[in-house]
Amino acid sequence: MSEVLEVKGLSKSFGGVQAIRDLSFTVGHGEVVGLIGPNGSGKSTTVNTLAGTLRVTSGEILLAGGHIQNVPEYERVELGLTRTFQTASLFADFTVREQVALGAESTRRSAPVLSIFGFGRHAGEDEAVQSQVEDALELTGLLPIAEKQVGTISSAEQRFLMIATALASNPKIILLDEPAAGMISHERKTLTDMIKRVRDRGISVLVIEHHMALIMEVSDRIVVLNFGQKIAEGTPLEIRENKAVIDAYLGETA
Ligand SMILES: Nc1ncnc2c1ncn2[C@@H]1O[C@H](COP(=O)(O)OP(=O)(O)O)[C@@H](O)[C@H]1O
Ligand SMILES: [Mg+2]
Repeated sequence: MSEVLEVKGLSKSFGGVQAIRDLSFTVGHGEVVGLIGPNGSGKSTTVNTLAGTLRVTSGEILLAGGHIQNVPEYERVELGLTRTFQTASLFADFTVREQVALGAESTRRSAPVLSIFGFGRHAGEDEAVQSQVEDALELTGLLPIAEKQVGTISSAEQRFLMIATALASNPKIILLDEPAAGMISHERKTLTDMIKRVRDRGISVLVIEHHMALIMEVSDRIVVLNFGQKIAEGTPLEIRENKAVIDAYLGETA
């Protein structure tokens, strides 16, 4: 399996706090990898350095074989790596479709943002962007509410919308930071099915989540962090039975 994402010896310090140390793992083509660990173990910092929101202190990040650790965040999106945030970051006055179109904007170079209002459009580009938007709405089940205002939909629908916005950039891999936060059981089921559909489209997923049933069901592989270091990696079954993981993390959630 070809690797979409390779993380090699990644470290990140904040002053004296070493949030991640010497972290290495890969995400293969069309693979879902779960990233779990106790609060403060470095999961969000990992996603932030991969996405380019934070600069690495040392180490390498490769996307489809090319180094990206010094590439700015927006260019990483253009190269095919995009993410959602732990908290909602949406435009309440936009329609769902307009919000998703913002995600697609990141992949075109002409007249960003303005073009969704009809300025500076390029014929071929326009169709490609529209089909990315419709695809993302379809994949996330948001087509029936595409004309609703973002501020009026449920918080779970807003979380799905964040995923749709990320998908509209036509990514090779998406990074999801606690996508199930605040969701109830049937919403988590919808999310689980959604992540599998994304994977089946050949888009890789790195997902941080505290909800163990969800992570165990969607992940092909799981990486476990504790105090910024990888303490285990394996299939959901291997992780569930790993002594170090039970001691550091699963014990407290079981
Ligand atoms: N911007 C920051 N400045 C200083 N310390 C930070 C910052 N972000 C995270 N940290 C620290 O890095 C460690 C890992 O945090 P984080 O990646 O948010 O953990 P997780 O997402 O696993 O809960 C924690 O000790 C946290 O306090
Ligand atoms: Mg976090």
